[in-house]
Amino acid sequence: MSPVKRVTVTDIQAMRERDEKITMLTAYDYSTARIADEAGIPVLLVGDSLGMVVLGYESTLPVTVDDMIRHGAAVVRGTDHAHVVVDMPFGSYQGGWQDAMKNAVRIMQETGAGSVKLEGGERSAEIVRHLVAAGIPVMGHIGLTPQSVNAFGGWRMQGKVPRDRVRLMADAKALEDAGAYAVVLETVPAEMGAKITQQLRVPTIGIGAGPYTSGQVQVVHDLLGLFQDFKPKHARRFLDGAELIRAAFEEYRDEVVSGAFPTAAESFGLDDAMRERIEGMTIQRADEPAPMPPRGTRPVGNSDIGDEGGYAPDPVRTDIERHGSAAKE
Ligand code: KIV
Repeated sequence: MSPVKRVTVTDIQAMRERDEKITMLTAYDYSTARIADEAGIPVLLVGDSLGMVVLGYESTLPVTVDDMIRHGAAVVRGTDHAHVVVDMPFGSYQGGWQDAMKNAVRIMQETGAGSVKLEGGERSAEIVRHLVAAGIPVMGHIGLTPQSVNAFGGWRMQGKVPRDRVRLMADAKALEDAGAYAVVLETVPAEMGAKITQQLRVPTIGIGAGPYTSGQVQVVHDLLGLFQDFKPKHARRFLDGAELIRAAFEEYRDEVVSGAFPTAAESFGLDDAMRERIEGMTIQRADEPAPMPPRGTRPVGNSDIGDEGGYAPDPVRTDIERHGSAAKE
């Protein structure tokens, strides 16, 4: 049997050449990654959105390189086929390309991912150039880049006014020129999504960028209806996951309370020898007085946990009986 081949950055670019839409989805853990891989999702992004949907932060800013490595490695372990992209979190590349190189190398080495993603256009182009020159494939990310939410003054659509549209196009071009193999466009007008896609040779992956980009990415918790704090306009719930899970949790709780769970089928039996031993044991009730140990001995062991138990000579009593009590002396 030939080994399953992982999707590479050149495969992703070939999909664009063939006009084949690219499906990308976030994943943060082994089990979800396994299911997405089995479903044939070709690109999995270990997004720093995990800070919000998994770790419960208000933004992606507190996410660390260690967080990305832990989750990135789990997603790689859960996949045989998908290309895994790991986000470079806030603070891991803003300090310059040397800093970025150190962190990107760690992410690649410690996760086994196929590429990294970082935010910013022209301002990040030099970093992208250095990473690509070192053999690290980079996916760019422009538009509403969540790590800049404070600078944007909130989660606002980008590229509304002509000046912003010119900047967005320049950012996309700068990333392509620096060697990015693909560019994510987040929350920009559909017209901008189409225009940038026309102007670039590398694929564009949209999230809230309309239907004309080379591919689409969604946050898996939005897609499965698991994240309930808010629903972005660009997201579609393909499953009412929170409802289904809540119903399952309630059923579990009810069955534990009623005694319907677990049944014999969900319990473990004993082999015959062990059963005979247990049946031969006298179980002492809490309200019965404990049997007196034979004179001059004390109880040892714990038959409840399989220790043989029994009585051993009590050195104090034996001594007293041999020599008489201290009071008598
Ligand atoms: O972190 C993330 O999930 C992302 C996507 C929204 C593109 O960057």
